[in-house]
Amino acid sequence: MMHASYARAGAPAQVEVRPSRFDERRAIGDILMRSEIFGRADAECVDAMFLETWQSPPREDHYRWLSCWRDGRMIGFACYGPESLTDRTWDLFWICVVPEARGKGAGRALMVAVESQVRQAGGRLMVIYTSSTPKYAPARRLYERAGFVCVAVVPDYYAEGDDLNIYWKRL
Ligand SMILES: CC(C)(COP(=O)(O)OP(=O)(O)OC[C@H]1O[C@@H](n2cnc3c(N)ncnc32)[C@H](O)[C@@H]1OP(=O)(O)O)[C@@H](O)C(=O)NCCC(=O)NCCS
Repeated sequence: MMHASYARAGAPAQVEVRPSRFDERRAIGDILMRSEIFGRADAECVDAMFLETWQSPPREDHYRWLSCWRDGRMIGFACYGPESLTDRTWDLFWICVVPEARGKGAGRALMVAVESQVRQAGGRLMVIYTSSTPKYAPARRLYERAGFVCVAVVPDYYAEGDDLNIYWKRL
C-alpha cells in the first residue's frame, strides 16, 4: 500500500493512494461524470479499459489503476501503463480528482505514486497526451510541476483550435 501526504499553501491534506480494486469501477465512473470536463463517452471509454484490465488474463502491457482516498472517500484515480512496441516508455492515460477536492494535493499525490510505480517497473520515459484548451490548464500545470515538458504540439488534433500537447519526462 502506498501513502502520500502533501501540504499546500499552509493547508496540509492527508491523502492515501493505493491500487484500485474492481469494486471501485462505479466510483471511477462517478468521478469522471462529476469532473466538469469529461462526458459519458469518456466514462464509457474508461469503463471499457477498466473491464479489460480485470476480465482478460494479466499481460505485461495491461493498464494499471490507482485510487486516491481522503477521509474514507475516494476522490480521484489515475490510469497508466506501458506503451506497446516501445522500449520501457509508459503513458499516463487518465487522471482525475473530484472538483471539491482539487487544489489540495490529490493530483500531485497521484502523479508521485504513478511515477514511483513506473520507476519500480523499470520505466524509462513517461508521456502524457493532453489538450491545449483552457479547461485543461490545471492538468498542464500539474504535469509541468511534476517535471514534465511539453515537447510537441499537434495543431487541431482533437478539433479545430484544440491542439494535442505531448508532455514528456525521462525517469
Ligand atoms: C488536473 C487535476 C487532476 C489536478 O488535481 P489537483 O488535486 O487539483 O492537483 P493538486 O492540488 O495536486 O495540484 C498540483 C499542482 O498543479 C497545479 N494546479 C492544479 N490545479 C491548478 C489550477 N486550477 N490552476 C493552476 N495550477 C493548478 C498546482 O499549482 C499544483 O502545483 P503547486 O503545488 O506547486 O502549486 C484536476 O484539476 C482534475 O481532475 N481536472 C479535471 C480532469 C483533467 O483535466 N485530467 C487531466 C486530463 S486526462
